[in-house]
Amino acid sequence: MIPLVLVAAVADNGVIGDDDRLIWRLKTDMKRFRALTMGRPMIMGRKTFASIGKPLPGRETIVVTRDRGFAVEGVHVVHDIPAAVALGRALAEKAGCDTLPVVGGAEIYRQLLPEAEALLLTLVHASPPGDAVFPPWSVEEFKETAREEHPAGPEDEHAFTFVDLQRIRTAGYASAPLTKPDRMTN
Ligand SMILES: NC(=O)c1ccc[n+]([C@@H]2O[C@H](COP(=O)([O-])OP(=O)(O)OC[C@H]3O[C@@H](n4cnc5c(N)ncnc54)[C@H](OP(=O)(O)O)[C@@H]3O)[C@@H](O)[C@H]2O)c1
Repeated sequence: MIPLVLVAAVADNGVIGDDDRLIWRLKTDMKRFRALTMGRPMIMGRKTFASIGKPLPGRETIVVTRDRGFAVEGVHVVHDIPAAVALGRALAEKAGCDTLPVVGGAEIYRQLLPEAEALLLTLVHASPPGDAVFPPWSVEEFKETAREEHPAGPEDEHAFTFVDLQRIRTAGYASAPLTKPDRMTN
């Protein structure tokens, strides 16, 4: 089955956005995002789509919304998470893709974390205020497989680290209830 991967840029305090928008400019991360999504169908929430404003070239866009009247030319609209995953897998299979990227925002990451095979994260070294956060993940379920530190480049507002995590156990695995959420950076 084509693996579902969560692609996200996450600040040290877990924040990913504020007031329905991104809160940093990181040109290097935009290049990584492009490389990880190009040619693949992407699943996103309606608010994230609104913040981007249009379908991105070279990628099929699947927007999840409860609004039955929502329609945008060039965009696939679905009304629940299972429909998003089923359509994403069908499109990814047809196009011969190796992954099915999920690109946010917070609500969509939270609902699809249990199904994710990998987390492809950009840890942004800043702690901005924000109202959208990435869900905590368990270190018992994901194992780090790659890490690349980057100082801020000329068009990056912050230093950041690319971190790839692969699922090693099914969701819900824990020998004992966690007393506090695990974050990689803790
Ligand atoms: N840093 C990053 O990597 C990154 C990536 C993406 C987004 N972001 C940020 O994240 C923020 C947006 O996240 P968010 O959590 O507010 O919104 P979101 O996840 O983008 O979208 C939420 C919307 O998706 C729809 N939805 C969610 N669950 C659904 C379900 N089970 N069935 C049907 N529809 C469902 C609803 O749309 P309707 O209201 O239309 O029904 C809901 O309002 C923004 O600040 C954005 O910039 C950051």
